[in-house]
Amino acid sequence: MSDTKARILEQVREYHLEKEPSREFVPGVSEIWPSGAVLEPADRVALVEAALDMRIAAGTSSRKFESRFARYMKRRKAHLVNSGSSANLLAMSALLSPHLEDRRLKPGDEVITVAAGFPTTVNPILQNGLVPVFVDVELRTYNTTAERIKAAVGPKTRAIMVAHALGNPFEVAEVAQIAEENDLFLIEDNCDAVGSLYNGQLTGTFGDLTTVSFYPAHHLTMGEGGCVLTSNLALARIVESLRDWGRDCWCEPGESDRCFKRFQYQLGTLPAGYDHKYIYSHIGYNLKATDLQAALGLTQLDKVDDFTAARRRNWQRLREGLEGVPHLILPEATLGSEPSWFGFVITVDPDAPFRRKELVNFLEERKIGTRNLFAGNLTRQPAYVDAPHRIVGDLTNSDIITEQTFWIGVYPGLTDEHTDFMTSSIRDFVAGW
Ligand SMILES: Cc1ncc(COP(=O)(O)O)c(C=O)c1O
Repeated sequence: MSDTKARILEQVREYHLEKEPSREFVPGVSEIWPSGAVLEPADRVALVEAALDMRIAAGTSSRKFESRFARYMKRRKAHLVNSGSSANLLAMSALLSPHLEDRRLKPGDEVITVAAGFPTTVNPILQNGLVPVFVDVELRTYNTTAERIKAAVGPKTRAIMVAHALGNPFEVAEVAQIAEENDLFLIEDNCDAVGSLYNGQLTGTFGDLTTVSFYPAHHLTMGEGGCVLTSNLALARIVESLRDWGRDCWCEPGESDRCFKRFQYQLGTLPAGYDHKYIYSHIGYNLKATDLQAALGLTQLDKVDDFTAARRRNWQRLREGLEGVPHLILPEATLGSEPSWFGFVITVDPDAPFRRKELVNFLEERKIGTRNLFAGNLTRQPAYVDAPHRIVGDLTNSDIITEQTFWIGVYPGLTDEHTDFMTSSIRDFVAGW
């Protein structure tokens, strides 16, 4: 490293410490965010170093991140993309690839998912001309059950795509078993659950494909970013092709002849020997991320276990602090799981003398940030009212979530002072009724 660069990076480190916001916490005055990135000097230095090197497209850090993250997630391949939503789009779109031959999904096929969650878990189903089949979720885990999924399998069902709700694993081993027995693909939306375990095994390692988000609210951040992971090499090739314009070639940017057959292909009705770099076997996208994002992802990945521990600790402290408070339905980990929590979910009992709105307003006035469980019952959202879908069973709990549920933060930037103020505030509010 040149002296000039070393000097600049040292100054960046100093600047980071200078810029760091005051850690003093004044209850009711200081904001308690529901989520946020925890960024340290090493993160800022990594980002600036990538910028100094002008690594403005995907390059060495991206490849390094993919290989390290795949190892962490115990998957053979990871493909870095520009968001968790893009990761979901790629994972779902991969299942329609002609390369899958008879197993390929076709428009009109059904994909089982849940009604209460984040929209871009469901959108790729619709964007690919497939039909979402919605099932309800449970109130304390905010996940659906293997039983509900089993009941939803019909003659047109070809896949299951479900998110681990706010870090809490769904019954993924049992769902993977249902998928296997019915020849269905399983996509785990692991965007909110990096580090969560089910039966001692990492979520994201049960399905055919899994997705992750690196938006600042998530377990690791790159600002914007996401990842598709799989251990199926055929699916990995398809994901890469769809991410990279749909091309057939798998050379890295700047590379030219990785397969040693660059001018020896004849595909489609192209002339023999057409340059493989410009042969397209999918109707693809460009969803790549940059090395600036990957450089940040690498320093964040060094801290993933600490982040998970802090999330668990904050969740547990909130859970203990709120035990026994009347009128609140408190969250529970799915049986057999050890979640790396994304948030602490509370449902105001529908029979309570107050509504969610009143509790949320009280907390927000005390600067305690709250969030809804994303879209609530998606079928009630304006964008989905006329979208094709099938509902199996009723969506009673999804409706309760729409009206009575919210979550507060557990992210690693929160301290005991924060969580204690959160619990005492909720207790103060409920005591007033
Ligand atoms: C479950 C789930 N899936 C997908 C996404 C989308 O991720 P991104 O914001 O990176 O597009 C989110 C975002 O929070 C999410 O919670």
